[in-house]
Formats: sequence, C-alpha cells, structure tokens
Amino acid sequence: MNQYIINGGKPLYGDVTIGGAKNAALGIIAAAILTDETVTIENLPNVSDINVLLEAIRSIGATVDRVSDHEVKICGATITSEVVDSEYVQKIRASYYLLGALIGKRGKAHVAMPGGCEIGARPMDQHLKGFRALGVKCEELDGSIEAEVEHLKGSHMVLDVSSVGATINIMLAAVLAEGTTVIEGVAKEPHIVDVANFLNSMGAKIRGAGTNAIRVYGTEKLHGTTYSIIPDQIEAGTFMCLVAATKGDVTLHNVIPKHLESITSKLLEIGVNVEESDEEVRVVALPGTRVRSTRVQTNVYPGFPTDMQPQITAVLMCAQGNSDVTESIFESRFRYVEQLRKMGASIDVKEDQSSCKVHGVAAVTGADMDIPDLRAGAALTIAALAAEGRSVLSGIEYIERGYEDFDLKLRELGADIEKVPV
Ligand code: EPZ
Repeated sequence: MNQYIINGGKPLYGDVTIGGAKNAALGIIAAAILTDETVTIENLPNVSDINVLLEAIRSIGATVDRVSDHEVKICGATITSEVVDSEYVQKIRASYYLLGALIGKRGKAHVAMPGGCEIGARPMDQHLKGFRALGVKCEELDGSIEAEVEHLKGSHMVLDVSSVGATINIMLAAVLAEGTTVIEGVAKEPHIVDVANFLNSMGAKIRGAGTNAIRVYGTEKLHGTTYSIIPDQIEAGTFMCLVAATKGDVTLHNVIPKHLESITSKLLEIGVNVEESDEEVRVVALPGTRVRSTRVQTNVYPGFPTDMQPQITAVLMCAQGNSDVTESIFESRFRYVEQLRKMGASIDVKEDQSSCKVHGVAAVTGADMDIPDLRAGAALTIAALAAEGRSVLSGIEYIERGYEDFDLKLRELGADIEKVPV
C-alpha cells in the first residue's frame, strides 16, 4: 500500500504526454481474442486495470506477449476455457467484456459479476438484453453470469440506457453472428468508436459507431491486426482541471482536441485559457486568479463526462461564487465530497445524491484524505495540489487503476508530490 505526500500551493509549468485510453484499451483487449491470429496493440496504457484484464485472458489460455509497457501481442487461438476466474473479475468492471468476446468466439461464457468503482448500482440488464436478442441463453447464477448459444443470429435491438459497457459488449457478441445486428440507443463515447475501428481493422464490418445506432454486419471470421489506441480523453481532462486548480501554464501532448470539447468549453466558461492545436492543448491559468462559478451537468458523450465530475468539482471548490454540479449518469458519485470538506471546502450534496452545490471559498488547506474510487482519487490529488500546506492521500491504488505514472508526471510539472509506502 502506498500514499501520496503532497505540499500544495505551487503553480505547474511544462509539458505532459497523455497515454492511451484505458476504457478503449479494455474493450480492445477483450475484442483481440475474437480471432485465432495474432493481434498487436500499441499505445497501451500501463495501468493496473489493463494488467488485470491481460492476466484474465491469459488465465483462459490466450497467449499474451507484453512486448513493452505500451505494446502487447495477443493470440486467442490457444484459449481452452470459457470460465473466467472471479479473482480477476472481482477486481475490475471491464472483465465483463469477456462475456461478449467469449460468446462471440465460442458461444459460451461463464463470468462472475464484475467489480469496479462503487459509484452506483451498475446493473448489467442491458448487456443481457442484447445477448438475449442475439439468441443467447443467459442466467445469473450464484454471482456469475452463465451464457450459451447454439447459433448467434443478428437482430434489431433498442437499448433502454445508453450504456458504454453494454454497447461494446453487444458489438463483441454480434461481430461473428449470422446476419445483421442493429443496436439503437447506443453510447457514443470516443472509446466506443475506437473499439469499432479496432474490430473493423480485424475484418469486421461495423458502421455507425459514434452515432445513435450501430450496425454490425456479421462476418465468418476475423484476422490479426496491428492497432494503436486513441489518447485518453479523461486523463487529458484531468490534467486540464489540474492546471485550472493549481494555476500555471501546461501543454498536453498526444490528445484529440475534438474529444475534449465539453471540458475545454467548460474551462473557457470559468475563465481558464485553453489553446488547441492538432494534437495538443495548452492550458493557462494565472496565479492569484480565481475561476468563475458555473453549472455542470454530466451527460453521455458529447456531454460533460461523468468521469470528469469529481475533477471539475475540485476546481470549482475555490471559484468566485456558487456552482451547481449535477451527476446524471451514476447514483452515488459524490462520496469524495466528505474528503474535500476536511480541507475546508463548502459543498452541500443533495439528499438523493443527484447533485451538489459548491460554495466557492478563497482557499483550502491540506488534509489527510482517503480515496474512495478512481476519479475521486484524481480529484483529491488536484485539490491537495491546489491547497495550502501538506496533504496525505491514502488508497492511491485506486488512482493507479487508470493513471500511469501520475505522481511522476506531476513532479515533472513542478508538483511537490511523493509516493511513499505506508
Ligand atoms: C464505463 O462504465 C466506464 N468504465 C466508466 O468509467 C464510465 O464512468 C462509464 O462507462 C460511463 O461513461 C469502463 O469503460 C471500464 P455504463 P460502464 O454502462 O460501462 C446504467 C472510469 O472511471 N446501466 O455506461 O459500467 C449504469 O448503472 C470508469 O474509468 C444500466 O442501467 O458504464 C449507469 O447508471 C468509472 N444497465 C449508466 O447506465 C446496464 O446494463 C451508465 O453506465 C448498464 C448500465
């Protein structure tokens, strides 16, 4: 177990390179087993969620050759089992993608109900609805999902919730089905498009990813490919919020500005300067200035991402005036607020956990805080770096699930942050 020791109050300057998108890489790793040929994945983020999923596919027999921290070769030809051990599944939510991939590849799957950040109920009804529409028999049995199908047949389905996970999982199950599958009401996040592009590079025929409806034209088999993962929209947004809170002048390299539009426009609205170029954004916030208050409502893409909600709240904590932050995607994603209150933040969370009112204060002070989940960990780090004085953050293994070398990248920007064993 490790902790962050942070001495805040220092503006940050310099350059940071954004890594590959964790939530694209997880779907792509699962999709890679759909062929018996070798797949090479580049720009892989070296974070614990990725490493757990690679272990999970290795545990069912896939050949996994980690060429480097950011490149892996996967071959699904050697897979011998459809039973994914709960040891891996309990650790990460994305293990549920092995359901769709194993249904697609072998017509059978037995995967324990997934773990993942505790930010709401996170049911899987839409995943199962999609599988059943393809003719799959699915049962929830002692905390696992058993799925079996004789013959996968494409069909037309309408999701009740624009679920990222269900959209990707159904694509994985449908890509080798007979005939055409139309999925309406799908999620449109950049990582959905990346998984679809990856599958198409393997010979799949998927159209409409990034729109409200995805068409999957079933193919006989898929072939090997070499594919590079898109930059991580949420890692980039996190560093943008970091500068807004700590002040300074930082250029982010290896980003896709289009994916950051909702974050950029929100930061511009509150008075932070953001300059875009092809693959970079430069964020400038003058020391001694306070951001303006605003209203934030999380939404599915291209709306403001729920995975950026804790981070923008940490920025608005010291805004001029009161802000409203509404969480429309998950039922309980404000658990980090009680930690921010230890620093002197003045934030009232609504009884039903649907929103909070952030009363901007001039400054906050360092505190000892416990991290409840991945993006909350990023937010508490931002708050501690903006605060006056010393903070100790426990539970940074949450952060390491989704951010590679987070403390190293921060130190390179001038942050006073150390990772120490407890
Ligand atoms: C993915 O989770 C991401 N995780 C989450 O990121 C992200 O917050 C979320 O999408 C929304 O963008 C991965 O990609 C591994 P959903 P997922 O299915 O797929 C409800 C991070 O920090 N729902 O889009 O679990 C659900 O309860 C993580 O990187 C159903 O009702 O999210 C939620 O309220 C945290 N039934 C809403 O939909 C279902 O069958 C959105 O969930 C599925 C979901």
